[in-house]
Amino acid sequence: MYVSHLACPKCDATYESEQIIQLCRCGAPLLVHYDLERVRSAVSKEDLVARPADRWRYQELLPVKQEANRVCLGEGMTPLLPLKKLGREIGLPNLFMKDEGIIPTGTFKARGAAVGVSRAKELGIEALAMPTNGNAGAAWAVYCAAAGIKAIIVMPQDAPPIPRGECAISGAALYLVDGLISDAGKIVARGVAEHGWFDASTLKEPYRIEGKKTMGLEIAEQFGWQLPDVILYPTGGGVGIIGIYKALKELETMGWISGKFPRLVAVQSTGCAPIIEAWKQNKNESEFWENAATLAFGITVPKALGDFLVLEAIYKTDGCAVAVEDSAILEAEALMASREGTFVCPEGAATLSAAVELAQSGWIKPEERVVLLNTGSGLKYPETVVTKPPLLSPHDDLPAA
Ligand SMILES: Cc1ncc(COP(=O)(O)O)c(C=O)c1O
Ligand SMILES: [Zn+2]
Repeated sequence: MYVSHLACPKCDATYESEQIIQLCRCGAPLLVHYDLERVRSAVSKEDLVARPADRWRYQELLPVKQEANRVCLGEGMTPLLPLKKLGREIGLPNLFMKDEGIIPTGTFKARGAAVGVSRAKELGIEALAMPTNGNAGAAWAVYCAAAGIKAIIVMPQDAPPIPRGECAISGAALYLVDGLISDAGKIVARGVAEHGWFDASTLKEPYRIEGKKTMGLEIAEQFGWQLPDVILYPTGGGVGIIGIYKALKELETMGWISGKFPRLVAVQSTGCAPIIEAWKQNKNESEFWENAATLAFGITVPKALGDFLVLEAIYKTDGCAVAVEDSAILEAEALMASREGTFVCPEGAATLSAAVELAQSGWIKPEERVVLLNTGSGLKYPETVVTKPPLLSPHDDLPAA
């Protein structure tokens, strides 16, 4: 393994990585650091070509030591689809979508879970607890089942129903809360203090982000190490966007990429837009968003622990932050399905609405290469499509199409 240590991005304190650890003593999340010089001499870009297109393709940049501890459900590299028709229609002919809808549990949360749970297994953790908006809980529940770790999951009662089933059937202890993910987080914190479970809340352990980082590694590799100009990301807890930025910095240090980073765009809903508000005011941290509500449930995070890292990723890449209306999200979801045949989750659809806005304002130029990150499958959100097909009797004939 090439991990050198853990470090706090806020106060620079460092920690040894073979201990079970949560936050820095200052309360900030800890990030994993690697001996990138050693990684560079151990593996080259060319070596990757012969490797399986799975999560462990980038094993030197991941924190799991023993192969036996890798919990794998067949999660693999996700497609980078050119959205040609849609791109032309919105004036961005070089539009792409990275489609996370096809991995186990149907969302990118499987990336964080695969690595987070594997590392938890390696460290001997027997029970972990986490608050979730649904998809992360589902992913951690199934990977914990595979790893033999007890999962205690708390989600808002308003969260979409499918992840509930995934948690329940895989044997997690599932609880609903009459409140938001922030309320679930407080309950988990009390449970952790009382029962001694490991706290797997977003960014309260250092390893989930390493799994999500692989999105950035894949994007770089899929573009032949010539980075795109803009990446739009639906941002809740922010782990995905922080992870992509971390991946790019590691690749740059290793000399695998050079030049300007893609401008990272955090996309939220106008119903819960703390990062957008902070960015507009040029702040380094966000304020708690009161009465948060959006149908893009995964991004209903009123105040993220890693908000300062999300904002840093935006500022350092000359990115921006955009809030879109829920009605525009639904329109974008339908547009992506009808034009490109992709049934995306509302969080993913939000990135299209944001791209349209940024293309219209001139912030994205027509010739630029733009990646929408679709974080999950629309199949997890059947309630976002209302259908009323005509009901036929067995003797009815079909009209002309
Ligand atoms: C489908 C989907 N997209 C995006 C997010 C936001 O994730 P992140 O924590 O990386 O900001 C979530 C979180 O629950 C999600 O479920
Ligand atoms: Zn610290």
